[in-house]
Amino acid sequence: MTKTTSPLGQPVSRVEGRLKVTGQAKYAAEFNVPGLTYGVVVSSTVARGRIQKLDASEALALPGVLHVFTHENRPSLAWFDRNYQDEDAPSGSPFRPLHDDKLVYSGQPIALVVAETFELASYAASLVRVEYAPRAHETDLRARRKEAYEPSKGKGGYEPPPKPRGNADKALASAAARVDAEYSSPVEHHNPMEPHATTVVYEDDGTLTLYDKTQGVQNTQKYISKVFKLSEDEARVRSPFVGGAFGSGLRPQYQLFLAVMAARELKRSVRVSLTRQQMFTFGHRPETLQRVALGASSDGKLVSIIHEAIAETSRFEDYIEVVVNWSGLLYQCDNVRLDHKLVQLDNYTPVDMRAPGAVLGVYALESAMDELAHQLRIDPLELRLRNYTERDQNKDKPFSSKELRACYQQGAEQFGWARRSLAPRSMREGKQLVGWGMATGIWEAMQQPASAKAVLSIDGTLTVSSATSDIGTGTYTVMTQIAADTLGLPIDAVTFKLGDSSLPPSPLQGGSWTVSSVGSAVKAACEKVREHLFKLARKVDGSPLAKASLEEVSFSGGRIHLSADPSKAVSLTAAMRQGGVLHLEEQVLSLPNMPEQNKFTRCTHSAVFAEVKVDEDLGVVKVSRVVCAVAGGRILNPKTARSQILGGIVGGIGMALQEETVMDPKLGRFMTHNLADYHVPVNADVHDIQVLFVDEEDSVVNPLGAKGLGEIGIVGVAAAIANAIFHATGKRVRGLPITLDKLL
Ligand code: MOS
Repeated sequence: MTKTTSPLGQPVSRVEGRLKVTGQAKYAAEFNVPGLTYGVVVSSTVARGRIQKLDASEALALPGVLHVFTHENRPSLAWFDRNYQDEDAPSGSPFRPLHDDKLVYSGQPIALVVAETFELASYAASLVRVEYAPRAHETDLRARRKEAYEPSKGKGGYEPPPKPRGNADKALASAAARVDAEYSSPVEHHNPMEPHATTVVYEDDGTLTLYDKTQGVQNTQKYISKVFKLSEDEARVRSPFVGGAFGSGLRPQYQLFLAVMAARELKRSVRVSLTRQQMFTFGHRPETLQRVALGASSDGKLVSIIHEAIAETSRFEDYIEVVVNWSGLLYQCDNVRLDHKLVQLDNYTPVDMRAPGAVLGVYALESAMDELAHQLRIDPLELRLRNYTERDQNKDKPFSSKELRACYQQGAEQFGWARRSLAPRSMREGKQLVGWGMATGIWEAMQQPASAKAVLSIDGTLTVSSATSDIGTGTYTVMTQIAADTLGLPIDAVTFKLGDSSLPPSPLQGGSWTVSSVGSAVKAACEKVREHLFKLARKVDGSPLAKASLEEVSFSGGRIHLSADPSKAVSLTAAMRQGGVLHLEEQVLSLPNMPEQNKFTRCTHSAVFAEVKVDEDLGVVKVSRVVCAVAGGRILNPKTARSQILGGIVGGIGMALQEETVMDPKLGRFMTHNLADYHVPVNADVHDIQVLFVDEEDSVVNPLGAKGLGEIGIVGVAAAIANAIFHATGKRVRGLPITLDKLL
């Protein structure tokens, strides 16, 4: 008998990999149907004011141009007078494209030109004449910082900073060592490889099939249903493949609205794709200004932490993410004051971007910790260990698990941290100043309600489905593994379906919660099939399992056998044949065990170690080595898990050294709006990256014990690099990105 090893925990390659590399995986703008028309968006060039006149006559005169939609001729929808908030909407009033003549940000869509070809629509869009009545705008966060206000609570899941504990200001004033500095981070844009696009297929019966670039087909579906008053049967949303998103696909974007509106009005299939420039017009990581003040005793024990953040939002929504709370959570300290305020600008609302909030707050905190270590002449890692906490003091709760100490130890070992010299500018290779820096990372381990359906066929194949997405994270693969493991089937007997609004309900793919949430549902659905199947197997004539209980058997290689004696077995096929069933089907809704989970704080942790080489004459920084040790619970697939962390680290290199969307406050618009100006790391910027996962057991987070890894990889990286640059050069740069001009 061949022993089947469980696919769970194995480095299984992406099950959809072949489809992707052979071009068979189709993305939102690649679904073609006969008679497809093309919509091109005209974007406003002023940030605030009104549209005085919009003349589309030249565009409309071109043969093949079907229509130019504007605020003057768009259909009247009840939605325009009401608010519908999507699943990721912050409190406020969501942007409504073509609502009226009012301009609320530069780049705002003001017209949609629809034509028989994309080229024609693009040319026609250039002929739309717009006269603006501009008003004075404000897009400069620094200039407006005095207007910062406490945001309203609105978005589900947003936790305002905890109340102060102790007296942080007093403790700071009398501390033996003090750091008090301001750190800043710029606007960043997600820039996934695939631009946002929606293809609306107008079916003969008037129903719509939408192919949308989204992190949540059901979020898109609900939005469309509300806005256009459609039932679920009238608009189905599909998104089988997503070319990266990083949060940019969490909210329905304007191309979706415009494409559906045009398809319904013209009774034609319509595609609207955004250009790369337009990818800078619907949400971004907000700019922040952050004060971090740390007070410590002379032996490095923290006696005070103050973290105050100011971030931007739009005039119409209070976008808020958790920036400062981490500072009350990561270290033992009895005097903590945290504060987060917003400033409204004439800009679009920011949107979650990979590890929203944490990536910013932890950058500032971990930079300040490095400054404190330097001041006290304590090794930066040692300083973290002296302030290690086993309890979340923000909530006064224990952690469900926290193997951060193992991350520090194993990461340091792998990196060779013990060989670091304490003083800045003390390590060099010729003209290259060498620096070693480190930082801690943290993110939440969340579980959301999710459902999945499992269908086992008598031929031994299993199809499992859920409406979730795979934005490149490996969802197809890991769900396939979980299902195969639960029913003891080989990987290739299992098909996982996702990205279709008609599938069992699932949350947005975000927050690093997909494995935890959808994975738990997949497991539960397969367990139900398992139970059913076992009942049938016991009834097979002369069944060797007749007297066994479910706990006494194992499922493997398409058979159910006694765990104690694998020769006593019934095949899945025989069990089903006996029961006279061709398919066994189970759908479950899996809910987090909140009473149990609420007793604990549930987080992933990491320790990031970075080596930089800085050219002494030119200031050019090379991140020559990164070691990242992650505590993420049980690792279900070390290959896809490692890829998530690698991607996060590369994002962190971008954040530290390159990524910045520059605003021209005079024009009120982003001047960086293509990939030539908006720099992200390329191959030449990425060197030796090592990822390791420490053992961590957690029975609280979800039935799988896996914590989710989509975001932890980027947290802490920018601080580790900034700290390494200080160690190399002796120069502390407190504003990201650390471009070479700041080092000269
Ligand atoms: Mo993530 S920023 O929740 O896609």
